[in-house]
Amino acid sequence: MRVVIQENYGKMCKWAANYIAAKINAHGGDRPFVLGLPTGSSPLGVYTELARMNKAGEVSFKNVVTFNMDEYLGLPREHDQSYWYFMWSNFFDHIDIPKENVNILNGMAEDPEAECARYEAKIAALGGVDLFLGGIGVDGHLAFNEPFTSLTSRTGVRVLTSDTRIVNSRFFGNDPEKVPAKALSVGIGTVMDSKEVLILINGHNKARALAASVEGGVSQKWTCSALQMHPAAIIACDEPACGELTVDTYKYFLDIEKSERL
Ligand code: GLP
Repeated sequence: MRVVIQENYGKMCKWAANYIAAKINAHGGDRPFVLGLPTGSSPLGVYTELARMNKAGEVSFKNVVTFNMDEYLGLPREHDQSYWYFMWSNFFDHIDIPKENVNILNGMAEDPEAECARYEAKIAALGGVDLFLGGIGVDGHLAFNEPFTSLTSRTGVRVLTSDTRIVNSRFFGNDPEKVPAKALSVGIGTVMDSKEVLILINGHNKARALAASVEGGVSQKWTCSALQMHPAAIIACDEPACGELTVDTYKYFLDIEKSERL
């Protein structure tokens, strides 16, 4: 696992956007580049930077197919807190991606489990995800795979913990009861199957989760820790998120990244 430590949130986002754009640009062949995407505040700066690069002609999304990680169950697309709404207003409306290349789980599906099975099958039909970008919750959840979700889970319906509903209530008038109780989410197994994974971890409030993901053992308590078993996982983080790492760990990753650049 690589851990790329950047001084602040802005630099972390620039680093991640450059990495994603380089991967898209290097992608050859006749199949599209398949990109997994998250919502949340963590990726916002990455989306802004990728949109800027797109406008500047530094990267194009015409041959990119996207799959979002998750969606609230029971929220229609037009709801301003649906992840569909978030993705279009914060990213897709600002880049040259063809509409039909965007895939987001349908939170209003009549049969949510069938919707999740369809999603997995579509990812597989496209040859799998090339790069999955993600963020994590303060409890280390990846997508909506809350603590104790199986590390081999596939796309399916998830029950949100009270903690997550409290944290996400900031977008629902600070009322946890207004946060949907369930969501559709790719599984940890789905993310682990992608060729590369890039996870953004920023801010003091994620420091415990970063330490658990990197220094703790692989455990379903911190579902993000499954990435330790991925052959090509990168965590891009900022300084404040490193607060709970041991000095040794922190120095180790700085050293490694220095030599990566040589
Ligand atoms: C939600 C999403 C996750 C996201 C997490 C962190 O729970 N389901 O995919 O990573 O929030 O969000 P933020 O980046 O706003 O801290």
